[in-house]
Amino acid sequence: MLHPLEELRDSALSYITSAADEHVLEALRVQYLGRNGSIALWGEQMRALSKEERPIVGKLLNEARNAVTAALAETGERLRAANEANALADIDISLPGTVAELGALHPLTQMLDRAIAIFRRMGFALAEGPDVETEWYCFDALNTAPDHPARNEQDTFYLPDGRLLRTHTSTVQIHTMQQAPPPIRVIAPGAAFRRDEVDATHSAQFHQIEGLYVDEDVSVADLKGTLEFFLRELLGPETEIRFRPHYFPFTEPSFEIDVKSKALRGGEKWLELCGSGMVHPAVFEEVNRARGDEAYDAEKYTGFAFGMGMDRLAMILFDIPDIRLFAGNDLRFLRQFA
Ligand code: DAH
Repeated sequence: MLHPLEELRDSALSYITSAADEHVLEALRVQYLGRNGSIALWGEQMRALSKEERPIVGKLLNEARNAVTAALAETGERLRAANEANALADIDISLPGTVAELGALHPLTQMLDRAIAIFRRMGFALAEGPDVETEWYCFDALNTAPDHPARNEQDTFYLPDGRLLRTHTSTVQIHTMQQAPPPIRVIAPGAAFRRDEVDATHSAQFHQIEGLYVDEDVSVADLKGTLEFFLRELLGPETEIRFRPHYFPFTEPSFEIDVKSKALRGGEKWLELCGSGMVHPAVFEEVNRARGDEAYDAEKYTGFAFGMGMDRLAMILFDIPDIRLFAGNDLRFLRQFA
């Protein structure tokens, strides 16, 4: 005949091993091993037993507790493993995944990155200056006469305190020469601002790459070679460039540079792209005055400078008909360059 503790153990084991889920199993654990559970109650009754009975019942009680504990652990493990397998079976690995949407660089940024990479290979470093400038950086230091039309309030955005939004990136030439003596070889990409009537080819904010190279014996040939290399790398080896004499206050001689390339819309047409020239000695002089030294000695150093319209370059390279598209934030436009 079985002792009641053995009967308790056997029925507990049969309930536990057939538990359907983890909730049922937890209820069984409380029922047998909990503070008011059957096994605890037997423990309390031990005190009422005789000296002879106590060790026998104690041994049975221990056996029952160990067996129940082991069965709970084992069944728990089995149920958890089954749950995991079920969860995995619910995953349909043949379903298409969720594709993360990728962003892309703005066409002007792509243009700029390509341009910077080419100038880098020729040893040009990046320089920068502020968008809000004084008249001195924008005009005076660049040898621009007090009555020059560019200074007009009709053409330039002035702030109430007399400062202005730079009308070109040539201001960075002055900042760069103020900060360091020659040799200088920098490009300065950035925004410029003019009070133009906005239309397909004019925007109140546009972008330029300024270039400045100052060293001993820098000549027009260097200017020509540098820009020719740049444009052929960018637009293809058959690209032609043409220098037209022009006037800028801060260069002498000055040129406008036109480009013709099969890669561009318009194919065989010359397109005006860039202002350039040899740095005017008056610019060196004003820089020296601001520096308080003679670092830019016009007898010893010469330099070339250029300013290129980036929006225009991107428009002709990517065949974009309207400059306003760059700032319109229309995804149908932008996605074409992703
Ligand atoms: N700053 C001129 C403009 O915006 C372009 C330019 C012309 C830049 C001649 C230069 C230069 O550096 O040498 O129209």
